[in-house]
Amino acid sequence: MLLLCLAVLCLGASSPCAAAPHQGSTNPTRNKLLLISFDGFRWDYDRDVETPNLDKMAQHGAKALYATPPFVTITSPSHFTMLTGRSVENHGVIHNIWFNTTTQQKKQYYEAQFVDSYWDNGSLPIWITAQRQGLKAGSLHFPGTAATYRGETVGVSQVEPFLYDHSNETDWRLNIDKVIGEWFHQQDLDFVSLYFGEPDDIQFQLLDYGPLGMLLPKEGTLEKVYKALKGSHPHLHVYKKEEMPARLHYGNHPRLLQIILIADPGYIFLPLHSVKGDHGFDNEAMEMKALFRVVGPDFKKNRVVDHIDLVDVYALMCHLLGINPEINDGHLDNTKHMLVNTGGDNN
Ligand SMILES: *[C@@H]1O[C@H](CO)[C@@H](O)[C@H](O)[C@H]1NC(C)=O
Ligand SMILES: *[C@@H]1O[C@H](CO)[C@@H](O)[C@H](O)[C@H]1NC(C)=O
Ligand SMILES: *[C@@H]1O[C@H](CO)[C@@H](O)[C@H](O)[C@H]1NC(C)=O
Repeated sequence: MLLLCLAVLCLGASSPCAAAPHQGSTNPTRNKLLLISFDGFRWDYDRDVETPNLDKMAQHGAKALYATPPFVTITSPSHFTMLTGRSVENHGVIHNIWFNTTTQQKKQYYEAQFVDSYWDNGSLPIWITAQRQGLKAGSLHFPGTAATYRGETVGVSQVEPFLYDHSNETDWRLNIDKVIGEWFHQQDLDFVSLYFGEPDDIQFQLLDYGPLGMLLPKEGTLEKVYKALKGSHPHLHVYKKEEMPARLHYGNHPRLLQIILIADPGYIFLPLHSVKGDHGFDNEAMEMKALFRVVGPDFKKNRVVDHIDLVDVYALMCHLLGINPEINDGHLDNTKHMLVNTGGDNN
């Protein structure tokens, strides 16, 4: 449930969108890249209401009919997939909630942002990779911004304050001005990620139910618990971790618990104990698909593609920034048809 826009701001005197001098750069034509995520909007939102600016973006750039987020379709896991190009079972940020099964300690979305070891689990977000290759990166409110990765943080950051009011439009405008005016123009950053939380504020929802559940049965009770749950409800899917469908990429990380429960869209359940979620249905469900727009000199205009996977956004961003990607699970080939000068039909 993410609306994602990638806006590539071209640098150069003739560009209407960014005209700051690029001090100290060896590549005067280098793109500036802005990744914007609006959390909580569906792929078909632009069909329900007037969205003149989103329509304009589609005209001036490319759009996908919908974008498929990674499973589990909740904020921290899916945003970290965009930043790393890794599926959730590979980057390890498996839930909004951090938990320790030994101590039963839990941290909700906001608190979990500050657990470095949770985020820094072997995958580097694009900010760090860009910085290591000489670029300047910033992030405003994007999930993962507060953490330190291999001793390094994103160079310029604004971490979301506790109990932040996501619905304040004055603040939206101030944040946009900050990113464009201060960060891109004055501080000459190359890449910024910008996050807008959904208006009904995920961190207020300390719900103990949802469509995803994970259980760690007591020693020796795995089979018993599994058998009791399996087939207990037609809209509840019960998997041992190792039998999770491979397409979900959510079975192969030590943080995932032994039994994983997934409810069909429209259903939620009360787990017996342990960890839970708030959204997070199967990423094949159309209700989970996201909106996707890209605009900038590297993209074809008025181009509509069928769909894209959010796991492929990372490789695209590295390409746009001219940096070498880390090992990732996406492919530039899957988004190349939106780019100019990469073959395919010109449109
Ligand atoms: C969970 O808590 C135990 C006991 O304090 C500790 O040894 C372990 O490292 C913790 N695990 C994580 C992932 O923090
Ligand atoms: C990732 O986290 C898991 C479990 O919390 C831990 O066992 C593993 O060593 C971590 N890997 C890295 C590279 O940090
Ligand atoms: C909205 O944000 C502005 C700027 O940060 C602040 O001055 C104002 O008090 C906020 N409005 C509400 C209703 O909280």
